[in-house]
Amino acid sequence: MKIVIVGAGRIAWHLGKRLKSKGLPVAQIISRTGVQAEALAEMLHASWADSVDDLVSDADWIIIAVRDDAIQAVASALSPFVQNSLVTHTSGGTAGALLAPYFKRFGVFYPLQSFSMEHTPVWSKIPFCVDAQSEEDVLFLKKIAKTIGNLVYRVNDEQRALLHVAAVFANNFANRCFAIAEKILEDKDLPFELLHPLMEETLAKALQDSPARMQTGPAMRGDLDTVHKHLDLLSENPEWQEIYREISENINPDLAV
Ligand SMILES: NC(=O)c1ccc[n+]([C@@H]2O[C@H](COP(=O)([O-])OP(=O)(O)OC[C@H]3O[C@@H](n4cnc5c(N)ncnc54)[C@H](OP(=O)(O)O)[C@@H]3O)[C@@H](O)[C@H]2O)c1
Repeated sequence: MKIVIVGAGRIAWHLGKRLKSKGLPVAQIISRTGVQAEALAEMLHASWADSVDDLVSDADWIIIAVRDDAIQAVASALSPFVQNSLVTHTSGGTAGALLAPYFKRFGVFYPLQSFSMEHTPVWSKIPFCVDAQSEEDVLFLKKIAKTIGNLVYRVNDEQRALLHVAAVFANNFANRCFAIAEKILEDKDLPFELLHPLMEETLAKALQDSPARMQTGPAMRGDLDTVHKHLDLLSENPEWQEIYREISENINPDLAV
């Protein structure tokens, strides 16, 4: 099978390496910044190009792994060179239908995890959300996902768009709250480690049961005095005060903060 990856960022690196290690070598890397394409191609023993004009012939599967807002432009540029390849992007927040005007066979191969260059992904724990125009291509993507990972879901465009919103709450917003907590402690010379057991317990409970049922804290209890004390303590930081107020009212709509 001839696999091509367009892009040489985080997803291209991790996915390319994983595919190769599972006996699915990448034939070509295409990325506008040739240096990165070359480095990745060298690691994967693949060829590389800095323009889609040089796409290898007869690619079976082309993975567009570029920034979300560049996917359409890349698809449009690739289109004249693609005959019958399956073309997928890897984005959670972009519709697969975006590729429809450009290719006969298209789909999405979205690994739902946060990838960074510094950390090796635990592939067995990454859900792959796949979808394609034809059932045959869905089966193909599911098979690949099962080969390089373990958890595979068919998720359509509408579902994936909301899944992405949910992931922002579960990951980005939760992490922002951790960062605020870290700063509050730091300002009082307290180590962030003090909160680690609590954070671990919160996550463990949320994974065991519904987080809605696991909610605790002054807002949930309707403990208005404590809520007001906390808001006073945050008076030097109105932005954090606002976040505290909004989330408290969201936890307990009867609480008139
Ligand atoms: N990282 C994650 O955690 C993660 C998880 C799941 C899905 N995804 C999805 O995977 C895709 C790639 O993300 P990533 O994290 O790998 O991004 P990244 O590390 O920022 O790399 C982005 C790649 O896109 C290329 N690019 C940017 N603008 C371009 C343009 N106008 N034309 C052509 N190429 C362009 C970059 O090339 P240059 O170096 O030349 O700019 C680079 O190779 C995105 O759709 C993202 O939503 C990412």
